[in-house]
Amino acid sequence: MDFNQFLTGELQRIEAAGLRRSLRVMDSAQGAEVFCDGRRLVNFSSNDYLGLAGHPLLIEAARHAASEAGAGAGASRLISGSHRHHERLEEELADFKNTAAALTFSSGYAAALGVIPALAGAGDVIILDKLCHACLIDAARLSGAVLRVFPHNQLEKLESHLRWAREKHPKARVLVLVESVYSMDGDLAPLREIVELKERFGAWLFVDEAHALGVIGSHGRGLADALGVAGPIEVHMGTLGKALGTAGAYVCGSSVLRDYLINSARSFIFSTAPPPAVAAAGCAAVSLLASAEGAERVERLESVRRELAALLQGPVSSSAIFPVSIGEENRAVAVSKQLWDAGFFVPAIRYPTVGKGSARLRITVTADHTADHLKSLAVALRSSIREV
Ligand SMILES: Cc1ncc(COP(=O)(O)O)c(C=O)c1O
Repeated sequence: MDFNQFLTGELQRIEAAGLRRSLRVMDSAQGAEVFCDGRRLVNFSSNDYLGLAGHPLLIEAARHAASEAGAGAGASRLISGSHRHHERLEEELADFKNTAAALTFSSGYAAALGVIPALAGAGDVIILDKLCHACLIDAARLSGAVLRVFPHNQLEKLESHLRWAREKHPKARVLVLVESVYSMDGDLAPLREIVELKERFGAWLFVDEAHALGVIGSHGRGLADALGVAGPIEVHMGTLGKALGTAGAYVCGSSVLRDYLINSARSFIFSTAPPPAVAAAGCAAVSLLASAEGAERVERLESVRRELAALLQGPVSSSAIFPVSIGEENRAVAVSKQLWDAGFFVPAIRYPTVGKGSARLRITVTADHTADHLKSLAVALRSSIREV
């Protein structure tokens, strides 16, 4: 078959299912208000929960580091040297997360793909929540381990998978993958109970705190810290591209975990390191989060969450993510378009990011949203849903 004909046919199929995606061109920094595709919009699409992506301290840290360390890292850190900005970022992250060590990756996706197959492989068992992010699912598949999926947050099923794994694969490593805040639903994992279960069955636990960092707990240290269960968790993962306002991801844990991953996580070994300037901006973000200003931004975000919940006359989300269920894919796109026309950037989330027929709007709030932003969104949302 002709190559382009094949691609065009596939795109038509995607379009007919209401699943076609396209890029919008952004002409401003992330923030509560953005300039995108030639329009000024109130932005409810970003994971920049604390408004750090445009913070002067981060921008200055990146600018200063770029002027002394250059624009690129040159190679993998094992090949051309581990820049001191990367080393400092990892020390600061470990300190902030109260772990012995940290290792950073170029993205959360890369972290998952590097770490999970390094911890479990053929003959081992990986058990994951059904709503885990695509990077955890892809990493679990890549590992070659036997996979077991439990329905979202259903502890009885997690327990029965753990029991099965111990009985059928007594010598296997058993790795449990969960998020602490689920990215498309904004709800929390019952982490205390999950920790108890993994301890009882001698399994290892990998917790992705991508949407909890900067949002939950003191200074936004995450859900594990807030619940006081961080200690027994083997692998703490989080991203730098969301509340920390930059890019990349970290894995925090023991020093031996860091050393082991440097020697076995393929996405770390075989990939050019992020530019040192990005690490320097990450350092500034972690310091800021640990400071009084960080605590104040986390509190502001919390009050924005409460305010939006009151306006929507719904429950306060446990996180900064407010999903508005629509159902049919084309309808979700139409509501999102209506909101766009009214001056609001609220993405429609469709299959395969969520299940077929459970399309939704994903509203994310940030510490920088004002009462006016929230009130006008609530009004526009009501009328768009009514009209479509
Ligand atoms: C829960 C979760 N984990 C991991 C990632 C991947 O992180 P990154 O964007 O840094 O690749 C995302 C989203 O991007 C996410 O939502």
